[in-house]
Amino acid sequence: MSDKLRMFTGNANRKLAESVCDYLDIPLGKAEVGRFKDNEIVVRIKENIRGADIFVFQPTFPPAENLLELLIMLDAVMRASASRVVAVIPYFGYARQDRKDQPRVAISAKLVANLIATAGATRVVSMDLHSHQIQGFFDVQFDHLFAAPILIDYFFKKDIGNLVVLAPDVGSVKMARAYAKRLDAGLAITDKRRPRPDVAEAVNVIGEVKDKNVVIIDDMISTGSSMVQASHAAKERGAKDVYAACTHPVFCGDAMKNLELAGLKEVIVTDTIPHDPDKLNSNIRVLTVAPLLGEAVRRIHEERSLSSLFV
Ligand code: R5P
Repeated sequence: MSDKLRMFTGNANRKLAESVCDYLDIPLGKAEVGRFKDNEIVVRIKENIRGADIFVFQPTFPPAENLLELLIMLDAVMRASASRVVAVIPYFGYARQDRKDQPRVAISAKLVANLIATAGATRVVSMDLHSHQIQGFFDVQFDHLFAAPILIDYFFKKDIGNLVVLAPDVGSVKMARAYAKRLDAGLAITDKRRPRPDVAEAVNVIGEVKDKNVVIIDDMISTGSSMVQASHAAKERGAKDVYAACTHPVFCGDAMKNLELAGLKEVIVTDTIPHDPDKLNSNIRVLTVAPLLGEAVRRIHEERSLSSLFV
């Protein structure tokens, strides 16, 4: 193990990278991640990292420039003779196409996994993957963290009584069940259909939500359509206060408008994807995952177990 731990970041979420470095009590590594005149990405590591334990921090939400910056940074640190190169990807983009479920479609999650390893990552850390099996797309070590301890702690402290955790679709049931167990709450499931990509329709709620306070939990909010549909379905069936929570606030298209119209008491997200606070609805609360990521980085560097973080 190298004594030297350094972290570098691209431009996708510098604020979170700085918070992780604050947690680790190290300065952010000096690197230029800029553009040539024609807008091609140029990366230069501005310190000696020979033999060091290097963490390259970058979530890969759109635009694809974020992914490209990560790949080029990994290449740069690998060529600068780092002893270990760990990609820290708080939000792993291109994950939604993870299987060939229709003719002539790509499996972008596998392609991106290959690109990251080819660029030089010898280990990858990510959080709340869209589907857990994406870990298996990597032939390098992979640490899959969950924002659950942070989100659950928030609800725990709020001490909302008479609570039901609602999965917005069948794919989120496992996540919702884990939250329900730890919050000592009931569990309900939305029967969601997707007539078209990015359009969600909730046709039924399985489980009791009448006169209950409801927390809808998902890995991400993209257009907000799934949350809105699940919220309406719960309210139509007599739910009281409805909260929405997710790890990754992708927030695209009319997400703000949709969430505003959903009548949610509060929307709780994390800072894996940054947003201008002035552009967020007033009932959106952002919790930081910096301590969780920082602790994972520290334990990897010190060759200690991460299992207590995987809860
Ligand atoms: C479903 O496949 C995911 O877990 C999310 O429910 C979905 O991506 C959210 O998308 P939107 O906010 O556009 O409904």
